[in-house]
Amino acid sequence: MHHEIVQEYLTNLYQEMNGYLKYTPEEIKNYVNHDVCLTYGEVHYLSLMAFSKKINLGPHDIFLDLGSGLGKICVSMLLGTECQEAIGIEASVKLHEQAIKILPKLELQLKLKLKNKKLSLLQGNFLSPDKLPDIKKATVVFINATAFTYDLLDKIGLVLNQCPNIRAILSFKPFANLTLPFSQTIRIEASWDSILARLYSQSYANANRNSECT
Ligand SMILES: C[S@@+](CC[C@H](N)C(=O)[O-])C[C@H]1O[C@@H](n2cnc3c(N)ncnc32)[C@H](O)[C@@H]1O
Repeated sequence: MHHEIVQEYLTNLYQEMNGYLKYTPEEIKNYVNHDVCLTYGEVHYLSLMAFSKKINLGPHDIFLDLGSGLGKICVSMLLGTECQEAIGIEASVKLHEQAIKILPKLELQLKLKLKNKKLSLLQGNFLSPDKLPDIKKATVVFINATAFTYDLLDKIGLVLNQCPNIRAILSFKPFANLTLPFSQTIRIEASWDSILARLYSQSYANANRNSECT
């Protein structure tokens, strides 16, 4: 699908949804105590497409968004690239409940026009052991981690280091403990700022170290 058509489709699909939710102090306390950072923000579609092109996201890749919010990144990847499968994991019950509302509309699109592409939007904490089998399926991982603590990033690193299929990780904040080597910084445009995201990847370790995905 052409990117302009995909963007229009996404705007319609998500027009009644809002990721910028209010939580009660009890909800915030409970999430924070379980390593969940509720800060929300979205990434621009064309930046995602430029990133996908840079890492050659293809039909054999399984894309994973850790902290998937409304699932828009996963849906964008399925509609805008050759990627056949996307998995999103989101802790916020309120966001997840909104995210899955698009599934009936989207399923028809994925089956008829996009040759049986697969989308899984899972609710829960991505640090929880029951999510590890899904995380292990991923080949490319995306983490909109701007507001995540370094403690949370260390815990995510320990999980990702157990996943041999992962060939690329894009994180909005640096990791200190990843086995996969740092490859380059990539500029990503988001709703709140322009981000210098870190790409960790074996195959791109010696590539051009700075680039723009706008
Ligand atoms: C900045 S938002 C990003 C949403 C989406 N990935 C995007 O880029 O549009 C980060 C999301 O991560 C979720 N999150 C934070 N910690 C989490 C955890 N431990 N497990 C699952 N989700 C988490 C938050 O609830 C939030 O929706």
